[in-house]
Amino acid sequence: MEKSITKTNRAWIEEQAPEMEPQRQFYYMDIAKQLIAEREAKLGRKLTYYVETFGCQMNARDSEKLRGILETVGYVSNDSETSDFVLYNTCTVRENANNKVYGRLGTLGSYKKKQPQMLIALCGCMMQEAHVVERLKKDFRFVNLVFGTHNIFKFAELLVAALLEMDEAGKREKRPKMVVDIWDGTSEIVEDLPIQRKYRFKSGVNIMFGCNNFCSYCIVPYVRGRERSRDPEDIIREIQRLVADDVVEVMLLGQNVNSYGKGLTPEINFPELLRRIENIEGLERIRFMTSHPKDLSDELIAVMAQSKKICKHMHLPLQSGSSRILKAMNRHYDKEQYLLLVEKLRAAIPDIAITTDIIVGFPGETKEDFLETLDVVKKVRYDSAFTFIYSKRSGTPAAEMENQVPEAEVKENFDILLKEIQSIATQKANELEGACLPVLVEQMNEQDASLVTGRLSNNATVHFPGDASLIGTIVDVKLTECKGFYYIGSRA
Ligand code: 5AD
Ligand code: SF4
Repeated sequence: MEKSITKTNRAWIEEQAPEMEPQRQFYYMDIAKQLIAEREAKLGRKLTYYVETFGCQMNARDSEKLRGILETVGYVSNDSETSDFVLYNTCTVRENANNKVYGRLGTLGSYKKKQPQMLIALCGCMMQEAHVVERLKKDFRFVNLVFGTHNIFKFAELLVAALLEMDEAGKREKRPKMVVDIWDGTSEIVEDLPIQRKYRFKSGVNIMFGCNNFCSYCIVPYVRGRERSRDPEDIIREIQRLVADDVVEVMLLGQNVNSYGKGLTPEINFPELLRRIENIEGLERIRFMTSHPKDLSDELIAVMAQSKKICKHMHLPLQSGSSRILKAMNRHYDKEQYLLLVEKLRAAIPDIAITTDIIVGFPGETKEDFLETLDVVKKVRYDSAFTFIYSKRSGTPAAEMENQVPEAEVKENFDILLKEIQSIATQKANELEGACLPVLVEQMNEQDASLVTGRLSNNATVHFPGDASLIGTIVDVKLTECKGFYYIGSRA
């Protein structure tokens, strides 16, 4: 770039920007690099950043993309919320996720009073709700940058806008205006932007974005938009690059991976994508999440059963065991169909680990409905389960339902369910004691330097004696002792 960046040439910067993505974002990364370098020169030190992720694996992967850009433009990672740049990547699946962010913002505001040069940014699912942005504008005016789920690929461009706004406001001696850019949706998928992975040997890989299911309690389709699948060639290319960069395990990510491929030409479905990924040399393990029971095909079960690389683990959200409630939830399966699926999975893959999500207290849920859920839990015997108390999300059909369940009743059922799940999970974990199984070694043990820590195919953690040379390899380990949620082992 010939012209150096001054606070007065914002229009010039915009004029020069290429239209095409991802080139446009690389151009803005160059600009941001210069803006950061100017600040570093003034301060006589590096600028630091802190990113905190709320919510699911999708958000975790998005945060890796945001970090990739921050590192590229010259920020250095720092584990402190008093960094020069602080970003919260938010979740809104339940009301308490929103409350947590508002609470934390209060603290950030007090840090910023002491360090006005701090740049505070918010992104993610919660930002897709109009009432949230209104509240930020009213109560949290110190926030500098707000963007949503559809335009995270624009982060470099938005960061430049926020940095320039800060400079200009500084000159005017005014508070910088909040830069807000929220899109209603997008069909665009921008490839090949930088990514800063959290783990060296494993990585999430988005295979699709958005959700078309409209479960009646769920806000995700409204904040993440309609389902769109990535081109299989792009997915394969990304995994090949990851493998060349030491990754041995990938987690394929989508709200409903079983419906992967809809709308793509040439036609492809999820089992076929898995077959192609299986052929990638050097890749050792494949995981995926989340599977919707209504779309889990016999073909997928067959591919899993034959595969040497797909982990023997299925996360299969039940949500409720009552067919009546499942109908009100718009889940498109009933109790019997769910149990049949589990039977088929176990027949084809006898040692498969099955985990789930369950909601307690959906509107209209009676004790009988709850007992149906408990019955499924006892029949399936989940390896583990995430349990949630129903949370009313405005804009979803369930929020309009009249027969909301009293809190005391929900709490009682929730506690019963949790106890049952924990007791079964402990029994199941104990059943593996004495077995000899492959473990992907992920890191040195954090407490004991003579141990390494890794994961079984079913995702359980194992600690066993070993050294750093084992990290990133798969070794056979005898599970000598089950400690509830983890195992102690020894090399077999
Ligand atoms: N209330 C409680 N739990 C919910 N989930 C999604 N929406 C809600 C809600 N409104 C749970 C579901 C989903 C998991 C990610 O979060 O169980 O599978
Ligand atoms: Fe993930 Fe849903 Fe939370 Fe968004 S709202 S972060 S998609 S769980």
